[in-house]
Amino acid sequence: MSLLHEHGFPNVLFHQLDVQDLQSIEGLANFIQTRFGKLDILVNNAGASGVVVDEEGLRALNIDPASWLSGKATDMVQGVIKTTYEKAKECLDTNYYGVKNLTRALLPLLQRSTSGGRIVNVSSIRGELWRIPDEELRKELADVENLSEEKIDGFVEKFLDDLRNDELEVKGWSKMLPAYSVSKAMLNAYTRVVAKTHLNMCINCVHPGYVDTDLNWHTGTMTLEEGAQGSVMLALLPQGGPTGCYFDRTQVAQF
Ligand SMILES: NC(=O)c1ccc[n+]([C@@H]2O[C@H](COP(=O)([O-])OP(=O)(O)OC[C@H]3O[C@@H](n4cnc5c(N)ncnc54)[C@H](OP(=O)(O)O)[C@@H]3O)[C@@H](O)[C@H]2O)c1
Repeated sequence: MSLLHEHGFPNVLFHQLDVQDLQSIEGLANFIQTRFGKLDILVNNAGASGVVVDEEGLRALNIDPASWLSGKATDMVQGVIKTTYEKAKECLDTNYYGVKNLTRALLPLLQRSTSGGRIVNVSSIRGELWRIPDEELRKELADVENLSEEKIDGFVEKFLDDLRNDELEVKGWSKMLPAYSVSKAMLNAYTRVVAKTHLNMCINCVHPGYVDTDLNWHTGTMTLEEGAQGSVMLALLPQGGPTGCYFDRTQVAQF
């Protein structure tokens, strides 16, 4: 029995899903198709950090939340937070390709929603454009008119190549949680591309806040309830509500 059932939601159904596994995605899509024939809301929330962390070492640094969030702590954490190729790949396969593959499989069901489908992509302030050191990439990602899935995939593959060649810094990628930052910047760009071509839906991305979870090794300061507010608001947007936007919690923000 799950916690949701115990808390008075007996009609909640569960289904296995590994967003890195195409068969598992297909299994979920088939389940929803057979059981309901449509889908109203998709919240892409799964996330991976892309790093190996010395948690004790990180805690010992006692970094204040403002420095952590602004990026001021970037140099401080280099000794305790390491990007490996395997972790970076897992991060991009989950946070970017996982969202894309799941969304592609579920879009036909979302299109059958009688209330207009909703997609909420849970992103992060790490993906905001101003944090990307490479000016050219910043411009390309901001140019929504000319963005395409193929173009975004190309940026991701270029990142992985540069990581393999140990050239992240010289090639202008973020030094703070590089794979995670790229995955969320590309997720935001992908959100805008899908929103452009599905105008009858509300498709947005959201930074949930700095929440106390496993993902940030429990350095976050907000409660789970506070962290859920943005996603819930976007999942329940009225028809004709904003689409193709980025929210910092419940407020529209700059990409
Ligand atoms: N916490 C924050 O401060 C913060 C800030 C900005 C953005 N976010 C974003 O918020 C979202 C939720 O993260 P969280 O903070 O709640 O972290 P979390 O507690 O670590 O939750 C991450 C979830 O993703 C699931 N997951 C990972 N890989 C998966 C896969 N391949 N297939 C299916 N599920 C997978 C995990 O499932 P298992 O438990 O089964 O592994 C876990 O439930 C993420 O997208 C994260 O990037 C969080």
